[in-house]
Amino acid sequence: MRILGIETSCDETSAAVIEAIPGENKIKVLSNVVASSVLLHAETKGIIPEVAARQQIKFIIPVIKEALNDAKMSNDIDAIAVTAGPGLIGSLLIGVETAKSLSLSWNKSIISVNHLIGHIYANFIDELNNIQFPAIVLIVSGGHTDLLLMKNHNKLILLGGTRDDAAGEAFDKIGRLLNFPYPGGPVIEKRAEKGNVKAFKFPRPMLDSNDFDFSFSGLKTSVYNQVKNTKLNEETINDISAGAQQAVIDVLISKTFKAVKKYNAKSILLSGGVAANQKLRDDIQLNARRYSLNAGIFFPEKKFCTDNAAMIATAAFFNYKPVPLQKITANPSSHFS
Ligand code: KG4
Ligand code: ZN
Repeated sequence: MRILGIETSCDETSAAVIEAIPGENKIKVLSNVVASSVLLHAETKGIIPEVAARQQIKFIIPVIKEALNDAKMSNDIDAIAVTAGPGLIGSLLIGVETAKSLSLSWNKSIISVNHLIGHIYANFIDELNNIQFPAIVLIVSGGHTDLLLMKNHNKLILLGGTRDDAAGEAFDKIGRLLNFPYPGGPVIEKRAEKGNVKAFKFPRPMLDSNDFDFSFSGLKTSVYNQVKNTKLNEETINDISAGAQQAVIDVLISKTFKAVKKYNAKSILLSGGVAANQKLRDDIQLNARRYSLNAGIFFPEKKFCTDNAAMIATAAFFNYKPVPLQKITANPSSHFS
C-alpha cells in the first residue's frame, strides 16, 4: 500500500510517499520532501501566521510533485493522508484543500491525521518490530508538551501536559532573550555544548509535583531575570544556554520515568522537534541505565522529529480506515481519551 502524505500545519510544507506492507507492518519511506519558510521567521524572531500561510501556497504543488518524482510515481498511490490539525489554520487549509482536490481528481481515498499522532508515528518508521506496548510517549514540540500512555495503536491516554509554554516554545523564547534567530532550540543546543551547565542554576518547575503536568513559563522568567543581571558575552551566553537546556531536560526525563514506573511501560517513545536534541537523547539513555529502567527507548531519526509528511502517512497507515472524500472532516478526531 502506498500513501501520499501531506503536512502543512505550520511553517514547513512537506509531502512524502511511504510504502507499507500490511502483513509485515514495515514502513519504507520512498520520498520525503520538506520546504521550510523558517528563514523568513528567523528574521522576525517568530512565526507570523499569514507569512507562513502564503509560503505554503507557494510551496505546496512543487513539493508534492517532487515527492512523487523522488518516489518514481505519478498518481498511482492508494490513499492521501493529510494533517487536519492542530496547527495554524491558514497553513492547514492549504494542505487540506490540496489533498481534497487531488483526492477528487485522482479518485483516491483521503485520510485525515492529527499532527500530534503523526509525531508519535515517526517512531514507527523502520522500528515497528521492536516497539512493545504499553509505551510512554513524550511529545515535545514547539506547540505541545504532552505525556501519554500508549496501550496499543488505537488507545492513547493523555497523562499530563504543559500548563503554559511548551518545551520547544520555552527554548524559542529563551533564544529570543539571548538574541538567537528563530527557532531557538537548535541554537541553544549548539551553544550549550560549549557552556558550563553549573554556572547558572535555573528552576526545575513542577519537578516534584504529584502529576504528569509541566510548566515552563517560570523558567523563561528566571532566564529573563538572569539575562538582565548578567554581562552577556560568548561565555555567559553559552553558560545560560547550557543551564536552561538542562533545566528543561531534567523535568522532561523525571516525569517520563515516573510514568514509566507507574504504568510498567515496556517502551519510551520520544517525539516532536525537541526530540532532535542530542543532550535529551543522551541523558534519557544514561539515566535509564543509572536507574535500571527496563524499557526500550526510541526516538525517530532526527529528520523525522521536526515536521514532515512521512510521519503523517505512517500514522495514517496504522490508525485509519480510508473514508470516501465526502466524509472528510476538517476537525481531527481526538485520540486522547
Ligand atoms: O515538531 P516541530 O517541528 O513543530 C511543532 O509541531 O511545533 O518542533 C519545533 C520545535 C521548535 O520549538 C524548535 O525550537 C524545537 O522544536 N527544536 C529543538 C531542536 N530542534 C528543534 N529544540 C531543542 N533542540 C533541538 N535540536
Ligand atoms: Zn510538529
